[in-house]
Amino acid sequence: MSYSDYSDDDADERCNTSTSRSHTELKEKTDILDRYADKINLDVHTTHRITKDKALRATVDQVLDPRTLGFLGKIFNNGTLSRINGCVSTGKEANIYYGLNESTAEEFAVKIYKTSILVFKDRTRYVVGEHRFGEKQSKNPRQMVRNWAEKEYRNLKRLYSEPLIHSPKPIDLKENILVMEYLTRGNGNPSPKLRDYNFKDLESVINYYHEMLILMRVLYQNCRLVHADLSEYNTIVHEENLYVFDVSQSVEPDHPMSIDFLRMDIKNVNDFFSRIKKINVYAERDIFKFVITPSNILFNNADDLKELDQEGTKNFLLNYLNTLNLKSSDDDEFNDEVFRSLHLVSSLHNIDERDFSKFSNGDMDTLVDLVGSLKIKDKDVVKRESNNTVSGEEQVDDYSDVDSEIGKCDFSDDEQPQSNLKRFQDKEEKKMHKQQFGFEVAFLYD
Ligand SMILES: Nc1ncnc2c1ncn2[C@@H]1O[C@H](COP(=O)(O)OP(=O)(O)OP(=O)(O)O)[C@@H](O)[C@H]1O
Ligand SMILES: [Mg+2]
Repeated sequence: MSYSDYSDDDADERCNTSTSRSHTELKEKTDILDRYADKINLDVHTTHRITKDKALRATVDQVLDPRTLGFLGKIFNNGTLSRINGCVSTGKEANIYYGLNESTAEEFAVKIYKTSILVFKDRTRYVVGEHRFGEKQSKNPRQMVRNWAEKEYRNLKRLYSEPLIHSPKPIDLKENILVMEYLTRGNGNPSPKLRDYNFKDLESVINYYHEMLILMRVLYQNCRLVHADLSEYNTIVHEENLYVFDVSQSVEPDHPMSIDFLRMDIKNVNDFFSRIKKINVYAERDIFKFVITPSNILFNNADDLKELDQEGTKNFLLNYLNTLNLKSSDDDEFNDEVFRSLHLVSSLHNIDERDFSKFSNGDMDTLVDLVGSLKIKDKDVVKRESNNTVSGEEQVDDYSDVDSEIGKCDFSDDEQPQSNLKRFQDKEEKKMHKQQFGFEVAFLYD
């Protein structure tokens, strides 16, 4: 209904209703503030004392509407927190506050999602396609915010239960308020984001780069999640370990856009380490392969992996990363660009009709070498040369048996890995193909 659909009477009535509603809201707000004002300080986190005046002023920023205050009250009443003592960060979608339990001296990060509709409007793409939230996609802004907070809480639990990943411990969730462990470097100050961390030396930068790549793989393989906003801003170095958080937008691998989000994560990570920290990085395609390829395909000695403890597993993965070539030339840069422009689909279910007919007509490259070696490349070239017009199903099945052989890397006996694993091949051929068809399609296995 547009505004002009209302009659003047309607408008008056709406006006009266909205005035009386805002009176009620104001009353609710005042009541609830009276109850909790001396427990809440929303100023930038400092060690200053809270005054009721400050708390009242702070509500003007509309983070704490009466309902949110009510839920915060529940968290106070259940004994998790006794006080909010300053604002650590104000973001587009949520603010983070420093929470305290004064009787146990425990500290918490309290993430309060803003309930305004506007900032949440572009979030649908992360939730649509998530089977976990299938029935819950709502247009009601409150419900949307609640879903979002719940999504972060559930993802955080998943991360926290994975021993190879460091993340803040999830503590409590009430509506749009998420309470988690506070990562602190003392005196109530948060530990530094990776962005602000004072790296000791070059070696330490390289170590954290590797940590980040291993984190992406463990997230994908063990937690079945793609972060979807991974960067130097959503990771913290706490007690020398790399902690990951802000996982409200993370999606499962079967989300239709998960591979696009993953490519974006990889690019962000590489950009930070290469442009800001000035180290050489690996090709995005190689990192992608490292993240998505199951162990029994990526490593010949994958069985050894099962026997290893956390440190052993990390070293094993690190050894693999050390076998990869670092980017060194403009051609490498070009290949990254091609990789970013690839039209990637994880299965035939995700290929749209237009692409499917192009694919069936043999007008599209199936880049099996996304995860492959020279052996596969040859096979792929042979397929193309024979100008086949096989159906998509056959094509995928056909590749599934070679998937089990591709890209295997065995460094158990200190052998140097095959050099063809480490290089992009046939660069000229790819350039020509890209020019010819505009884009390429690669199928991945789940
Ligand atoms: N558990 C925590 N312990 C300490 N600090 C934290 C914690 N969680 C978040 N922070 C701090 O708050 C900032 C914002 O957190 P987060 O990224 O989860 O919120 P956000 O709404 O997504 O913010 P942004 O829009 O800035 O990304 C982080 O960059 C970090 O500095
Ligand atoms: Mg963030």
